[in-house]
Amino acid sequence: MGKLEWIDSLSVGVESIDDEHKKLIKIANSIIKMSRDFSDTDQFTRAMSYLREYTVLHFSNEEAYMVSINYPDLTKHSAEHARLKRIVKEFQSKIYHKEEIESDEVLEFMKGWLVAHVLGSDMKIKEYIEEQKAKAISEKKGKAIIGNSSVKSFS
Ligand SMILES: [Fe+2]
Repeated sequence: MGKLEWIDSLSVGVESIDDEHKKLIKIANSIIKMSRDFSDTDQFTRAMSYLREYTVLHFSNEEAYMVSINYPDLTKHSAEHARLKRIVKEFQSKIYHKEEIESDEVLEFMKGWLVAHVLGSDMKIKEYIEEQKAKAISEKKGKAIIGNSSVKSFS
């Protein structure tokens, strides 16, 4: 059965963001499952609304996090969030007007949409955090070297 799976390489290295991504995958999987036995349209519609709500919450949390770390590409990333929110809204209204839902279509949508978000844009947050960490370490090393040489000059 096709479903989305969390793998460690999807981690952006920030626990709260990873947890929300895991939750998004969980919601997406429950929608994929429902689409295979499409008997309860109300339940499906509610699940899609929940996905949208959770997406809005997650993007806003992620944007707050980016602000907190002075992320330089915040504007670009927020624009990407706006685009992904539009896409999920379009998909929601598309299936709302449909009488039958192809489960493969739902699976493919969730795969592309979530992967586009996590791998496409969030991995750049990870790269930035790692760059900042490396910079802090090399600055520390630099200071240690300067510290040592000044000790030497007094001896
Ligand atoms: Fe995210």
